[in-house]
Amino acid sequence: MNTSPLSGGLSRRRFLAATGFALVAPTIIPASAFGQNGRTAPSNRIIMGVVGWGMQGPGNTGNFMNEADCQVVAACDLNKHNLQSAVNSVNGHYKNKDCKAYHDFREMMARTDIDAVMLAVPDHWHALVAVEAANNKKDIYGEKPLARTIAEQQAMVKAVQRNKRMWQTGSWQRSERNFHYGAEIVRNGLIGKVKRVEVGLPDGHNDFAGTAGPLQEKLAKIPGAPNDLAKVVPGTAAWDAAVSAPPEDLDYEFWLGPSRKEPYIHARVFMNWRWNYNTGGGQLLDWIGHHCDIAHWGLGNDDKIGPSEVEGQGEFPPKDAIWNTCTKYRVTCKYPNDIEFIIAGGHGDIRGGTKWIGTDGRWVWVDRGNAFESSNATWGDTRNLPEDQRKVKLIKTKNHYRDFLDAVKSRQPTVSPVEVAHHSAIPGHLGLISMLVGRKINWDAAKEVILDDAEASKLLTRPYRTPWKLA
Ligand SMILES: NC(=O)c1ccc[n+]([C@@H]2O[C@H](COP(=O)([O-])OP(=O)(O)OC[C@H]3O[C@@H](n4cnc5c(N)ncnc54)[C@H](O)[C@@H]3O)[C@@H](O)[C@H]2O)c1
Repeated sequence: MNTSPLSGGLSRRRFLAATGFALVAPTIIPASAFGQNGRTAPSNRIIMGVVGWGMQGPGNTGNFMNEADCQVVAACDLNKHNLQSAVNSVNGHYKNKDCKAYHDFREMMARTDIDAVMLAVPDHWHALVAVEAANNKKDIYGEKPLARTIAEQQAMVKAVQRNKRMWQTGSWQRSERNFHYGAEIVRNGLIGKVKRVEVGLPDGHNDFAGTAGPLQEKLAKIPGAPNDLAKVVPGTAAWDAAVSAPPEDLDYEFWLGPSRKEPYIHARVFMNWRWNYNTGGGQLLDWIGHHCDIAHWGLGNDDKIGPSEVEGQGEFPPKDAIWNTCTKYRVTCKYPNDIEFIIAGGHGDIRGGTKWIGTDGRWVWVDRGNAFESSNATWGDTRNLPEDQRKVKLIKTKNHYRDFLDAVKSRQPTVSPVEVAHHSAIPGHLGLISMLVGRKINWDAAKEVILDDAEASKLLTRPYRTPWKLA
């Protein structure tokens, strides 16, 4: 491998590590790691740390460990059980005991032998962990949506740019063939001028962690208690039954981090933090970085171009309910060239996935599971545009993780850089803000500010709990 494009100092660090003179936190490298057994020599490997070992972290990490030129050497989690699973999994993969465990991500980020990090922490942590990583010169594979607020996203973009870091977002649909194909058809004008875009997302809440069931069984024994966690509010016997001490394995105070202090409720921490606005953004923001990201790709809206008007309507549980995120929503945005852009969850007229509608009844629709439909029967047969129709060629990658590692080496952008993730999530954030203030938002996409609405502008950011500050 040509190591010359690597950022300053890496080759030297890798040389030192390979010869046993690691600068910080010495790593013992087994004989099998010295380029034998078909593995890439350590001096050419991307040394990686991983943060967050819940639903998404293990899969991401497994994909990186499967690449011969990547070596995971550190894992971080605030939950002792998950952290031990991470260490066992990494050491099991390499058949060694080298993976170092961290409770505090800042200690892991301070290691100078780590080149890149994989971040799969809840949304309320994205900005703080990513900015710390970028300031410590790590390249970053970070999860979607980019962050909990637009202000946090802006800080992340600046930190990544200032520190000249490579970034890949976990918006892996960009590395799937049908999404690439659909976006390229639209980008090349084959459906004519785009008039309308429909982004269909899930609605309601989803008990990902299976923690709602046991609580609902408890609630069933309380006379008059609701079964739906979106109806359980403070000051009721049902709420009191839901609150408990945090599990011993979890540092809950740290886990809350910059978010408002709230009592521990098991059914809204592991994975289900998504359904509480204190830590997540509901279905709208959980999915915006997937199907809206694809919609933007097809339109060529990856950078700078954004909506000028955003109006959202939604159905909300009481704001202090256990699960308080919007259950059904419809966001209508106006984009340049009079494109009507709809994002909806729970509305039968908007199909799940991404649909672009152009002139003369031409359209393309894509979704997960390699789903592709269009107004042109011949398009469905190939999944590859003939070369003469590919005037605009979108980056094509078969493996989202490989694409990141290649970018770490080449210093060429990934298929989903930080600026793209920022723009993909903006319509979701603005849609939520519009729903919360109950009126249309006028957005200056170039300056990234809300026009003439002080109340809505306040929601571009959120207060941070002491001592957390975004650098
Ligand atoms: N790309 C995808 O398809 C996809 C799918 C699922 C989740 N995700 C994203 O992955 C991220 C994580 O989601 P999840 O469902 O895995 O959540 P999760 O709750 O299952 O796991 C998060 C883990 O991070 C740990 N954690 C929390 N704060 C931490 C901190 N400050 N330092 C270290 N560890 C910390 C938790 O203890 C937990 O183990 C989210 O951003 C989510 O949107 C992406």
